[in-house]
Amino acid sequence: MSENISPQQETTFSKARFVYTTRVQRESSYTKAAAEQSAKKSFNQLEAKPFLKWAGGKRQLLSVIQQYLPAKYTEYYEPFIGAGAMLFSLQPKSSTINDTNSELVNCYQVIRDQPEELLKLCQQHRENNTKEYYYQLRQQDRQDDFNQRTPVEKAARIIYLNKTCFNGLFRVNSSGQFNVPYGKYKNPVIVDPAVIQAISTYLNRATCRILKGDFEQAVATAKKGAFIYFDPPYHPVSDTSSFTGYSMNGFGEQEQIRLKKLCDRLTDRGCQVLASNSAAPFIKSLYDDPNYKVVEVKATRAINAVASKRGKINELLIHNKYVLRK
Ligand SMILES: C[S@@+](CC[C@H](N)C(=O)[O-])C[C@H]1O[C@@H](n2cnc3c(N)ncnc32)[C@H](O)[C@@H]1O
Repeated sequence: MSENISPQQETTFSKARFVYTTRVQRESSYTKAAAEQSAKKSFNQLEAKPFLKWAGGKRQLLSVIQQYLPAKYTEYYEPFIGAGAMLFSLQPKSSTINDTNSELVNCYQVIRDQPEELLKLCQQHRENNTKEYYYQLRQQDRQDDFNQRTPVEKAARIIYLNKTCFNGLFRVNSSGQFNVPYGKYKNPVIVDPAVIQAISTYLNRATCRILKGDFEQAVATAKKGAFIYFDPPYHPVSDTSSFTGYSMNGFGEQEQIRLKKLCDRLTDRGCQVLASNSAAPFIKSLYDDPNYKVVEVKATRAINAVASKRGKINELLIHNKYVLRK
């Protein structure tokens, strides 16, 4: 058990030992069964799906995006991977995924390499879940020894915080410290073992390069015939909607322009590019270019700081006029 658990929690934990042990035994046999089931399934059959709640997550929009996929592609790139809804829906055999968020990238690496250890730690967090426990884990990134924590400890921490925090946001302050308050969910599901095992099986079976860095660098190796899906932080539709909640570095107009120029270079290289963005006038004029087809679609926004603003809004899907899948 972690040295950060208080004596009071240790007592509570001891009292619950019998229930806990039985549950862990049941869940670890479930985990093994999930692993065996995943191992038997072929590509595209794995129940891989997002393991985090993520601002801008594409799950709700998948059925629409599927109408704008290329007929054929050699390899897949997703430079703003987030919670990976598109990757898991496509399950390509060869892919490169990337994000600037190091905590997020670490989760993908740990799921690939240590799914069992991750599930055990997530189960411990679920057993211990209280408001006090949440804040105890949250403040770990304010301690000097945070960087000595193992990748699996860090991944379990971020998954637990994501599933129990207010609105499932990932937000850090100017020092890079997680600062979202506790979410008061009655019975939050931290992880589904079958999903973690399916993702792990997929990441091990496919050739999937997991990178941490800037989007431009992530596509440096993309060749003719590759399919690249860009899902950047969206440009605000109005001055009052600039809340994004991704990281301490904003993604402003200059970044959107840099992305458009990159799309142009990839187009010249013969790559097939699809990009999502808000239906902001700035984005519409940026892609008002004969090389691109801009489609306006309706999307459901699950995460918005203001509850009344959650609902259907217009978004853009932009592609460089490749041959669409029938
Ligand atoms: C809209 S989200 C992606 C959502 C994802 N498609 C999903 O379904 O969950 C945008 C992502 O871009 C990442 N990001 C922000 N700036 C970046 C940059 N310069 N290069 C790469 N990733 C970046 C954020 O950390 C965030 O995960």
